[in-house]
Amino acid sequence: MTWPVKKWTFQDRIIAPSLLAADFGRVAEETTRAINAGADWMHLDVMDGNFVDNISFGPAVIQAVHETNDVFLDVHLMIARPDHYLARFLKAGADMITVHVEPEAQHDVAATLQAIRAAGCKAGLALNPATPFEAVVPFLGDIDMLLVMTVVPGFGGQSFMEEMMTKVEAGVAHRTENGLTYHIQVDGGIGAETAMIAGKAGANVLVAGSSTFGAPDMKAAIRQIREA
Ligand code: DX5
Ligand code: ZN
Repeated sequence: MTWPVKKWTFQDRIIAPSLLAADFGRVAEETTRAINAGADWMHLDVMDGNFVDNISFGPAVIQAVHETNDVFLDVHLMIARPDHYLARFLKAGADMITVHVEPEAQHDVAATLQAIRAAGCKAGLALNPATPFEAVVPFLGDIDMLLVMTVVPGFGGQSFMEEMMTKVEAGVAHRTENGLTYHIQVDGGIGAETAMIAGKAGANVLVAGSSTFGAPDMKAAIRQIREA
């Protein structure tokens, strides 16, 4: 089923709760709960036990979410050989697919980004805390979103690394200098306080797992992140 898709720009503040922190026994209901609480996008963390030291879920779960909700699906692939699995995530209903720039992801980054866009999907590029901003520069003209990891990927509930804000600022400067329009996303350790720091640095898409799904009042938690 295809749903009408809103046009999001980097001037929109977008809150994307991460399904990783939800109750996996009830993914559809948990997604509905997030949407009713004010989520703009759903962030879906795919981990393969190889690129990162954890295994989460794959295309079947994403398809289950897609079939019951019309929310924008932001798929974060923390997997090796993302190019090999692309078709399955596209078919599952991804609206954005973000791949990693690190050599451990074992793919031709430019070719993967191009293949994502050729399929009519938005393309994101992620960099780990240990990866310098320079690594993504050759690809910034060909992406819809830059994902600056603010924790070492693999697990939810870790502490936000404020030092990563220099990369967010570099992303903003590059975007302005080159007349580009990519979103800048931060992922890891985002709550009301850290959202303020990331927003000030120039990030407009805020991923939040534990601080949203784990909150006693998810609506209040999302509102606080949005207003931060
Ligand atoms: C980390 C994932 C994140 C994670 C964030 O590997 O990419 O999306 O779910 O979780 P919190 O918000 O709990 O740090
Ligand atoms: Zn993520």
